[in-house]
Amino acid sequence: MKEVAFFFALIATAARGFVALQSSPQSRLQAATLESPSEQRGDLTGAIPDCPETVWNFENLDVKAEQKKVSVPAECPVEWQAPTGTEGPEYFAAQRDAIMEKLLAHGCVWLRGFDLTKREGGFRSMYEALRLDPCLDPIHTSGLRAFASQSDAIYEEVNKESLSQHYIGLHQESTHKKTAKYGAFVCFKPATVKGGEFLIADAAKIFRDLDPGVAQRFYDRQIRISVSNLDMDFLAAAGPLREPLMDGAKNLIDKLVAPKFDMDLEMIYGADGKPMRLQAIEMTASPINRHPVTGVPLWFCNIHNHARYLRDRRPCNVPEVGMTEVFFGDLSPIPADDLDHINKVSEANIAHIPMQPGDVLLCDNYRVLHGRDIFEGDRYHAVTWFGGTVDDREQDLDTSNSKPGDFLNKAINKFLVDSF
Ligand SMILES: [Fe+2]
Repeated sequence: MKEVAFFFALIATAARGFVALQSSPQSRLQAATLESPSEQRGDLTGAIPDCPETVWNFENLDVKAEQKKVSVPAECPVEWQAPTGTEGPEYFAAQRDAIMEKLLAHGCVWLRGFDLTKREGGFRSMYEALRLDPCLDPIHTSGLRAFASQSDAIYEEVNKESLSQHYIGLHQESTHKKTAKYGAFVCFKPATVKGGEFLIADAAKIFRDLDPGVAQRFYDRQIRISVSNLDMDFLAAAGPLREPLMDGAKNLIDKLVAPKFDMDLEMIYGADGKPMRLQAIEMTASPINRHPVTGVPLWFCNIHNHARYLRDRRPCNVPEVGMTEVFFGDLSPIPADDLDHINKVSEANIAHIPMQPGDVLLCDNYRVLHGRDIFEGDRYHAVTWFGGTVDDREQDLDTSNSKPGDFLNKAINKFLVDSF
């Protein structure tokens, strides 16, 4: 089964959101000592439910008319300053309704100046006081997502030094299949030299600001995202066996590997013009989607991060196997002019957030896109994803999202650590 593990590694190294391999534990422990043993808080290892299904609601949209109707508050994020800095979980419990109201209106609340959230345990007590319900990352089963503190459902962000010079463009933490409802991004340590600012953009404003012709074209044609390139050129020399071997490789990955990612991937040769390149491509998706609560149309599209044309024009050190691409829904290429326009509108809406220790960006993952600037030095930011609130879960008897998918993640992380 070594070949299968190899392909796992290839795709795992490649899949979108790309690489978040194991971080160096010693620096993490120096940066954030747990406030209390995890057993006192309850160990969430193995008990975190899967990320919920993506809520799609995009049909029958009058794009131009809806663009004109967008009316959202200017501030994104809206700041929430700690009164003294010494507030504990009870403060967040008391302010919960007000914070959640601001989150719904603005899409992102920047909690500033709290000592409580400077440590993993305090961060967890904050989100528990807000009655937020942790879930696994949408691509958790790929093995790409390493925990900073699994017992607290806290994932490491992309802090790895080898990826520090890789700019992470705007995206929602979403696949065609799964989307976290909320995310809480926390800074335990800013980059020690420079950079590493967190990026936030209001998806309602990006939708509003797009040229109506571009927005309509993308809405009509939809998109597909390729998350991995497997170059099978070595099969070209196989003579008459070439075609059967190509089919065999495709079937092997399609049947044994792709399902593990739980992303509805289709294996396709030659989509980007290279006949021996096998790409793992997500299903057709609408780049515009209504918010599941407010119904506001949103730019629900990871193209700013995933379009190869844009990645080629900014700091990017993802290996070819992990280079992503975005096509129109019929797999035809997207014109550079459209990508330039989307890039311009996206960047005009980016807020650069210089997070300090303890700062939390509480995000509505449908409403805002996020990214991360390049940095130098050591950096420790982390995130917890939420499928909703505890109240949502208690009212929902559907257990379809309750199956932990952690076994594969653990296995692949181990494989990656052992192999690279
Ligand atoms: Fe992300």
